Amino acid sequence: MLNSSIMVNAALSIRNFEKKDVAPVLALAASLTVSRFSTKHGFVEYPLPTKKELAEKVVGNKYSFVATVHDEAIGFLTAYGDDQVLRFEEPDVIAMKILEQRRPFVYADQLGVARPYQRQGLGEHLFERLCAVMAENKINYLYCGVAHAPLKNIPAVTLMKKLDMRLLTEVVDESGLTFGIYSKLLA
Ligand SMILES: CC(C)(COP(=O)(O)OP(=O)(O)OC[C@H]1O[C@@H](n2cnc3c(N)ncnc32)[C@H](O)[C@@H]1OP(=O)(O)O)[C@@H](O)C(=O)NCCC(=O)NCCS
Repeated sequence: MLNSSIMVNAALSIRNFEKKDVAPVLALAASLTVSRFSTKHGFVEYPLPTKKELAEKVVGNKYSFVATVHDEAIGFLTAYGDDQVLRFEEPDVIAMKILEQRRPFVYADQLGVARPYQRQGLGEHLFERLCAVMAENKINYLYCGVAHAPLKNIPAVTLMKKLDMRLLTEVVDESGLTFGIYSKLLA
């Protein structure tokens, strides 16, 4: 449920990506990216794609969403169907592990909410929108990766629990970062 402060802020729109969203969402993703030594939670050393790379992945993708207030991007969720994950040029360790799972699935890659808008229900709402579109498309399996070490992403792990996503396994990337892979069977 969205908290009243975002609703009162009104003009909140949640929709699929358009080309104009790519640059602001990249800037938002950059602002939420942290180093492994940070005490802040966020996208841990997640390599930022170029505008072209992100546009190719999200524009026209029914599983990816951007949230705006007065046309300012304040949140986003990038997610991909298994056919799209299979076409990733350089799948990371999370995508590789998810590709081993049952299909058809959706892989929720990045969920980000601008810091002033956090803890008002938007992250949960973006996931609910994704699940609704998955249901329309009869896709039952949802997967997601969350940082576990060196710093456990408590906001994201707690959100996983609230969404009934279960920890399936952990993976360690080539640089030593550990991620939990969470999954949910929708139907
Ligand atoms: C993780 C993130 C997307 C959550 O988005 P959000 O809009 O702030 O989350 P919501 O307000 O929808 O919270 C939903 C639930 O998640 C959990 N949660 C969210 N933030 C939390 C926090 N700081 N501490 C503990 N639990 C938290 C709670 O269960 C919350 O429900 P509640 O408020 O009823 O207790 C946001 O903190 C964020 O953008 N972080 C930086 C980027 C990142 O780390 N993304 C996740 C990795 S993919």
